[in-house]
Amino acid sequence: MALNLDQINIHSPGRYSEGFPWADWDLMRREAPVFWYERDDIEPFWAVTRYSEVMAISERPRTFINGGPRLRLALKTETELLRGGVDEFGKSRGWDPNEPPDMTFMDDPRHREVRKLSSWAFTQGCMRSFATHFDELAAQFTNEFVADLERHGEVDLVHHLTAKLPLAATGEIIGLAPDDWKKILVWSNAIIGEVPPEHILPGETNWQAAERSMNEFRLYLEYLISDHRKPGGGPSDFINRLVNAEIHGEKQTDQQLIGYLFLLIGAGNDTTRNATTGGVVALLEHPEQIKLLQDNPKLIGNAVDEILRWTSPVISFLRTATEDFQLLDKKIREGDTVCMFYPSANRDDTVFKNPYTFDITRDPNPYITFGFGAHFCLGTNLAKAELRASLKALLPVLSRMERAGEGHRIPNTHVSGFAELPIRLKK
Ligand code: HEM
Repeated sequence: MALNLDQINIHSPGRYSEGFPWADWDLMRREAPVFWYERDDIEPFWAVTRYSEVMAISERPRTFINGGPRLRLALKTETELLRGGVDEFGKSRGWDPNEPPDMTFMDDPRHREVRKLSSWAFTQGCMRSFATHFDELAAQFTNEFVADLERHGEVDLVHHLTAKLPLAATGEIIGLAPDDWKKILVWSNAIIGEVPPEHILPGETNWQAAERSMNEFRLYLEYLISDHRKPGGGPSDFINRLVNAEIHGEKQTDQQLIGYLFLLIGAGNDTTRNATTGGVVALLEHPEQIKLLQDNPKLIGNAVDEILRWTSPVISFLRTATEDFQLLDKKIREGDTVCMFYPSANRDDTVFKNPYTFDITRDPNPYITFGFGAHFCLGTNLAKAELRASLKALLPVLSRMERAGEGHRIPNTHVSGFAELPIRLKK
């Protein structure tokens, strides 16, 4: 039976554990690119699925603001990610309940000022200076992974490889001790609701374990900040600069700094990991593209771009309209929520020829995986540098690998991809 607009489901986290709802988005782009999406278990919103309308919203940050009541999809039974208000942890420290959790919830001019405090560290130039080190780290992690495969036969790609470089690379830039990276991995996974069973204490629910992890992460950040506030500063140049930076003569508070570091560490983790895992899967499914890349290593930059378009790990972001706005044939009213679906925009055939073909020679490739406009991903250069290093390290061994099972995907409407993917060496 053909799918119709009443049946589509693009809002349930569980839906994404089966993969992205490509058929639903295809139908929407074709028949209802700006669609008033109403379901019992979620507040209604305008679902926006075509490239040109995702752009139209992203390039109008005054009409479509981040600082409204909704930024990420959440069911009626859930609290929106990171928008818990000031909880016990914050209350015990006298935090301001009106302070946004981080820059993604802010609008200009404040957003621009806050973003500038760290954007200097994520430029292309800075990333070039890290490239050799990222290559070394990627080579080391890949060698360890191949050794694991040789020893154990079947190994999970996510935990044993693709989760490692994003943390290490962000850790290097921020200046975190390598011993802390592992702890951070558990904490940051817990924030998106993925708590490994061994980290759940007896009698604790999944949610309680996630909350505890989040507080442990905040305690760690609080300690880092106080260490760097001491006269003479701490070991990390990046954190020294952040704690001493001023906006209109005022330094950032602990609450603001914790939110800042929390975002920088969290935002680059699962996103880049999912892109890397999804990229490996895409290449394994297209052995001719592996061959093409092995024969033409100069295509590596193009391959990274195509992996980013293909995997599109950030699924959606919401905006609130501050005025009435005509979007195609629909009148968006002041106060309405619009939800942009990036993977859908990345399969728009009016922009991408044969969008369902994975093609590392695709050119041009104007993918919108990192968003667009004022909030354009701050970590774009970092994510690309990591993917490049990972791909370079994996290229010589990819043709020896194969999937050993379906794996599991993350049930989440904001960021999704493989949570687990078994890999083995070919016989
Ligand atoms: C493949 C990996 C990544 C993807 C797909 C991704 C995607 C995105 C998207 C879609 C946005 C929102 C853009 C918008 O609203 O227009 C964003 C924002 C952001 N990303 Fe990334 N990201 C990735 C990696 C990273 C990394 C490595 C960092 C590390 C610093 C990072 C830090 C941020 C920050 C701080 C923001 C908020 C920017 C702002 O509000 O001004 N991201 N990212």
